[in-house]
Amino acid sequence: MKKRMHLAFDYSYIHMDGRWRMPGAWPNMTYPDVAMFEEMARTAERGKFDMLFSGDGTGVPSTWQDSRDAAVRWGISWPRQDLAPLSVAMARVTKHLGFGVTYSTTFMHPYYLARLFNSLDHVTGGRIAFNVITSTRRSDFANYGYDEIPGHGERYDRMEEFIDVCRMLWDSVEPDAMLWDHATGQVGDPKKVHDVAHHGKFFKVSGPLNTPPSPQGRPLLLQAGGSGRGIRAAAYVADMAFGADMPLALQIAQRKALDAAVAALGRDPRSMGIVWQQPTVVAETEREAVAQRERLLTAIPPEGAGVYLSHNSGYDFSTLPERFTLGALHKEIVASQASPVGFVRELIVTLGADAEITRKEFFEHGMRFATGYERTVAGTAAQVADHMEHAFEATGSRGGFMLGHVVSMPGDLAAIVELLVPELQRRGRFRTEYKGTTLRDNLFDDAE
Ligand SMILES: Cc1cc2nc3c(=O)[nH]c(=O)nc-3n(C[C@H](O)[C@H](O)[C@H](O)COP(=O)(O)O)c2cc1C
Repeated sequence: MKKRMHLAFDYSYIHMDGRWRMPGAWPNMTYPDVAMFEEMARTAERGKFDMLFSGDGTGVPSTWQDSRDAAVRWGISWPRQDLAPLSVAMARVTKHLGFGVTYSTTFMHPYYLARLFNSLDHVTGGRIAFNVITSTRRSDFANYGYDEIPGHGERYDRMEEFIDVCRMLWDSVEPDAMLWDHATGQVGDPKKVHDVAHHGKFFKVSGPLNTPPSPQGRPLLLQAGGSGRGIRAAAYVADMAFGADMPLALQIAQRKALDAAVAALGRDPRSMGIVWQQPTVVAETEREAVAQRERLLTAIPPEGAGVYLSHNSGYDFSTLPERFTLGALHKEIVASQASPVGFVRELIVTLGADAEITRKEFFEHGMRFATGYERTVAGTAAQVADHMEHAFEATGSRGGFMLGHVVSMPGDLAAIVELLVPELQRRGRFRTEYKGTTLRDNLFDDAE
């Protein structure tokens, strides 16, 4: 039997980076109208998607020119609201769809998040996932009392301890600890509620969590590390990994590195899927899909692309000289404790580390990267399904895809549900019905 894919939909950018005014986008609705999100959730559930996901950042991007003005002017990764209430609203209009929400372990406290995710798991009936991130973004860390961002490796050390603490807290109340015994009046069994007594390098937490155990016990954990250290952390932290929409050769390399990291922890690499980010536009004809993708290049002005790239790389590209080599720029980015992977590394893979490039050329590539144009697969359902099957098999046939970065909503998601999903189902690559009730049940419904 063919291996089936899992599908998520990424709604991180549907109202930002110029997409809000693309033709057909959200008629009569303005962010953050909760009706937008409810409609999206109903559509995704109609398509039998595993989950809706959003990334997050908690500040206004300000790395570009050391200022937030351009981000505010053009709506680049701004505005954003906390994702938890939106997930609750969307859960109330669906029954099976899961919800991935993002919080940073660089600033938050594990007790607060362990408790929040327990509550979200209850309210959604076991359909919540935690996208566990570290943060490289200046605008985020400045809001949490940091003058300088902690080093890249240290951020991952903190993430691992953070999740150790969360796991202990989620396990601190045993699954059968609640009695609610009307006859005796006993609510809980004290023998099944345990201390955590954690005293580590970053956190000191006594526990237990003051909540009843939740439907999934622990929320599903997602992690998207792409560097060597990040991939090791993903192996340690994640139930399901995320991977970026990189060229296939880089994805194959990440699959191999993650397999090795999972095996080094004594786990079977076959148990760890990767859900690859995949910007996608589907239409009845290739011409329509390609025309829709072209609109991405008109979504934001060049300054907006500078804001996006600087924010996501943790490096101010407005300071670039007229000419430079990509290798030298990459070294500076790494030395500034930002991530070694991302836009500049991908340019190096394409053009070479010794390539000399002008500022103008850099921003031309940057516009195609920032808008998602470069990696958007646009075509008929059959063409997109061919692409997905090829990438799925080349990366180990475990996990699936997070479609998204579409041009305009809600039409582009509806086209995915009406055209692409049936094509994948015909090919035996995607479920026709949900089997389980929790997100964990559905994401692992094909486990060996
Ligand atoms: C699917 C996906 C979602 C991500 N979501 C976020 C996010 O919401 N916020 C964030 O700061 N970083 C996000 N990232 C960045 C990753 O957490 C990670 O930092 C990046 O892949 C670089 O890897 P590294 O941290 O190992 O250097 C995401 C990456 C991917 C591929």
